[in-house]
Amino acid sequence: MPHISILSASVRTGRHSHRVALYFKKYVEENKLATVEVLDLNEYQFPVFNERLKFQPNPSPQVVEFAAKIKSSDGVIIVTPEYNGGYPASLKNVVDLLYDEWHRKPIAISTVSDGSFGGTQVITSLQFTLWKIRAWTVPAMFPVPKVAEAFDENGNAIDKVRTDKRATTFVNELLWCVEAKSKMTQPG
Ligand SMILES: Cc1cc2nc3c(=O)[nH]c(=O)nc-3n(C[C@H](O)[C@H](O)[C@H](O)COP(=O)(O)O)c2cc1C
Repeated sequence: MPHISILSASVRTGRHSHRVALYFKKYVEENKLATVEVLDLNEYQFPVFNERLKFQPNPSPQVVEFAAKIKSSDGVIIVTPEYNGGYPASLKNVVDLLYDEWHRKPIAISTVSDGSFGGTQVITSLQFTLWKIRAWTVPAMFPVPKVAEAFDENGNAIDKVRTDKRATTFVNELLWCVEAKSKMTQPG
């Protein structure tokens, strides 16, 4: 069974996008699609970037742990809020921190806003950065508009049937890429 990490990017007090991260965890577990862990940047509270991990003489155990978790994940779902048409500094902070860990990593992006457009303005800038760092962003979208009306604080979707249907398309695309990559790396 593959292992998926869900990177919850918002560190804002009173954040709402974390609900979507919790939702994906439940969805993947309920459907027995993968083992899954939420990597919560609000829990990590990483300091502002001052050098890439591989050049840090004494990296913190938290950074080392985070890097190992990204590296060992077969795929990653990034849940990011939209702030002023972009993604938050907390997310760029950890993209820049790592390097090889992102290489060819299948990544699906879910964008979240409290407005009507579901954070879709984030997609191009985040995809470009992930492409630059040689990650493998999968061609699937999961925009979440009006997030506080769509999910409760425990990550339950208000319209579960419709949300699960959208999640199926989104997560299946990620899992296809995960499987394709595993075929490329199988011995023989
Ligand atoms: C600094 C800042 C800028 C924001 N800019 C936008 C925006 O450009 N478009 C939008 O739809 N929502 C915007 N929002 C609202 C967020 O989308 C909203 O807070 C949503 O719940 C996701 O972020 P959160 O996880 O931090 O709550 C902004 C929020 C903050 C704090």
